[in-house]
Amino acid sequence: MAKIIILGSGGFGLSIAIMCANAGHDVTVWSKFRDEIDAIERTGELKAKLPGVKVPPEVKLTTDISEVRDKDLVILGIPTTFCRGVCEEAAQYIQSESIVVNTAKGLEIGTLKTMSEVTKESMPKNRVAILTGPSHAEELARGVPTTIVVASDDREVSYYVQNTLSNANFRIYVNDDVIGCELGGSLKNVIALAAGVCDGLGLGDNTKAALMTRGIREISALGIAMGAQSDTFGGLSGIGDLIVTCCSMHSRNRRAGILIGQGVSPDEAVERVGTVEGYTCTKNAYELSHRLGVEMPITEQLYAVLFEGLDPKMTIAALMQRPKKNETEKDFLGESK
Ligand SMILES: NC(=O)c1ccc[n+]([C@@H]2O[C@H](COP(=O)([O-])OP(=O)(O)OC[C@H]3O[C@@H](n4cnc5c(N)ncnc54)[C@H](O)[C@@H]3O)[C@@H](O)[C@H]2O)c1
Repeated sequence: MAKIIILGSGGFGLSIAIMCANAGHDVTVWSKFRDEIDAIERTGELKAKLPGVKVPPEVKLTTDISEVRDKDLVILGIPTTFCRGVCEEAAQYIQSESIVVNTAKGLEIGTLKTMSEVTKESMPKNRVAILTGPSHAEELARGVPTTIVVASDDREVSYYVQNTLSNANFRIYVNDDVIGCELGGSLKNVIALAAGVCDGLGLGDNTKAALMTRGIREISALGIAMGAQSDTFGGLSGIGDLIVTCCSMHSRNRRAGILIGQGVSPDEAVERVGTVEGYTCTKNAYELSHRLGVEMPITEQLYAVLFEGLDPKMTIAALMQRPKKNETEKDFLGESK
């Protein structure tokens, strides 16, 4: 039995907590917000995100961040934007032996750093891993068989997380390519938003398949330019997460994209859906692609829709009528992709 604290009482944090408690671990869930904890205590569930899923009574709920002290595992389930702040708060109390696992998908706004970089900078004495892959909270919390990847630059840490968190319905693979896993998990949100736009415009399965396939290609092009292994993008944190996010109504990114495709303004779509990490990640990916000179046509078009007022209908011609390409040769006719 491990002593685990989950920081964040949202959908994903709580689904991990429920799974860990059911596996017999000693589990505490922290939220910065008293009302979130009160609502779970009062109803025994997180009605807004996981209706009908009971939180086991053994799960301890707290708003006291000093509870990170004396834990084997500290797992972050906080949206990217707020990760650094929460890590810095927790760093005041955490013991150096605790292993920290970040589950947030995205890059830090402004610095464009990955979540493992942010975590390591904020908690320099701790060993860090990230957990990523196709894992909707709504299914994880209900014990639906799920596979995921743990990545760390310390293999011992990966094996510890794999051994501690694996169970009959939760299978964890180890991958040493931390940057590849993080970029796959972050950038799939951009393509999921675009897939939603595609659905909202009423386009077909052919178009969606094209978008997903060419999407993973541009994600991997950027990833390779940043030092990732190409194989990673064919795995759970790459194509695996892309499939689940582009095809499921659980995906907030896809739902926001659908609204945009139906004519709702991007700002309003994000407002209606809530946390849409692909929105800021589109800006981040756009910036990175320009900084590194990597061609990312889908990201480019989505950026124009989200931030420059382009009509989503106009993106189809822009993508379909690009210069003719060879699918796989990198330098075909002198082009990068
Ligand atoms: N939902 C999923 O299926 C899923 C799956 C895998 C990974 N993730 C990742 O997990 C992270 C959390 O997602 P979620 O779906 O649980 O989100 P959520 O919106 O349901 O919950 C977010 C949690 O973060 C907390 N939070 C928000 N603002 C905060 C602040 N300023 N300071 C401290 N805490 C704050 C909230 O109180 C809440 O407890 C995201 O980065 C997401 O990419 C989610």
